Amino acid sequence: MTLAVFGYGYWGPNLVRNFTAIGQTVKYVVDSSAAQRQKAEKAYPTVTATADAEVVLNDSDVDAIIIAIPVRYHYEIAKKALLAGKHALVEKPMTMTGDEADELIEIASKNKLVLMSDHTFLYTGAVKKIKALIEAGDLGDVLYFDSTRVDVGLFQSDVNVLWDLAPHDISILSYLINDKPISVAATGKAHVGASRENIAFLTMNYNIDFIAHANVSWISPVKIRKVLIGGTKKMIVYDDIEPSEKVRVYDSGFEIKDIEEQNKFKVDYRMGDVLIPKLDTTEALADMARDFVKAIESGGKHSPLSDMHLGALVVKTLEAAEKSIKQNGAEIKL
Ligand SMILES: NC(=O)c1ccc[n+]([C@@H]2O[C@H](COP(=O)([O-])OP(=O)(O)OC[C@H]3O[C@@H](n4cnc5c(N)ncnc54)[C@H](O)[C@@H]3O)[C@@H](O)[C@H]2O)c1
Repeated sequence: MTLAVFGYGYWGPNLVRNFTAIGQTVKYVVDSSAAQRQKAEKAYPTVTATADAEVVLNDSDVDAIIIAIPVRYHYEIAKKALLAGKHALVEKPMTMTGDEADELIEIASKNKLVLMSDHTFLYTGAVKKIKALIEAGDLGDVLYFDSTRVDVGLFQSDVNVLWDLAPHDISILSYLINDKPISVAATGKAHVGASRENIAFLTMNYNIDFIAHANVSWISPVKIRKVLIGGTKKMIVYDDIEPSEKVRVYDSGFEIKDIEEQNKFKVDYRMGDVLIPKLDTTEALADMARDFVKAIESGGKHSPLSDMHLGALVVKTLEAAEKSIKQNGAEIKL
């Protein structure tokens, strides 16, 4: 398959490397920066680096476009690519609005093209293991998901911290519990500049007895990527900073013994063994790249894990969360 990668900044080189590694041909890198184009041509002498998007979109050799430029340009380039008959893989978050995401889905569906959003975490060994544990019933009923995803920067030029970091939590959650939030509530603060929050707290409510929370920040003194997932039988600590032992399964829980009367009950706490499961160490981005190629080669029969509908769900959840921040944390229905 012949590909063009838009954006050779931080993430673009990882995409070029992984698509090349799985045997695909990256014909073009499109970047508006001459310095980045030079880097791409130095690393991949067979790649043509250009600033001219139109040349690439009009090249009939190109089967698919991969978009790793700032979020505000995702919709415009993805739409042009789809209208030019090319499949599109768009970095997270897929678009800036739910309406834009719906429009891209409509164009892709009408033209039988694959549109996919890269929610890379779904392909990690850690998330795949947690999914398997939940599916096998090891956790019992899942009660909560509580994530801390904070760092020292990096301030983004076009989105707030929710749009930068919360897509990971929203996509992981959707995959793990196979359900959508019915409402969200969020608060946040912009300490630098007027409008873009650099710290935010997002709560997601569901139709089931389950609650999810994500704390995202660019102004933490340390980098933390830790998720607690509690079930009625077992609980998980997923620490993505850990080099190998990212997932710990605690045989911990609680049981309400006997409810004597309202507000009076006995709780038995269980603090058992901790299991550290072995994880698949395949690079997640390589699996994501294979999933995209498989979806295209199957002629639409294979639905990728991180598909366009997940992309739209993430965008709509973020949009609702941003609305909630503007209304001081009011609950916004989805
Ligand atoms: N899946 C993940 O885990 C993950 C991780 C990091 C970033 N991302 C996503 O990747 C995208 C890019 O992020 P980044 O951190 O690499 O950004 P970046 O700023 O480091 O790189 C963006 C590159 O795009 C170029 N560019 C900007 N506008 C352009 C345009 N209109 N046409 C062509 N080139 C243009 C810039 O010169 C730059 O080289 C974002 O959507 C981000 O959310 C995803």
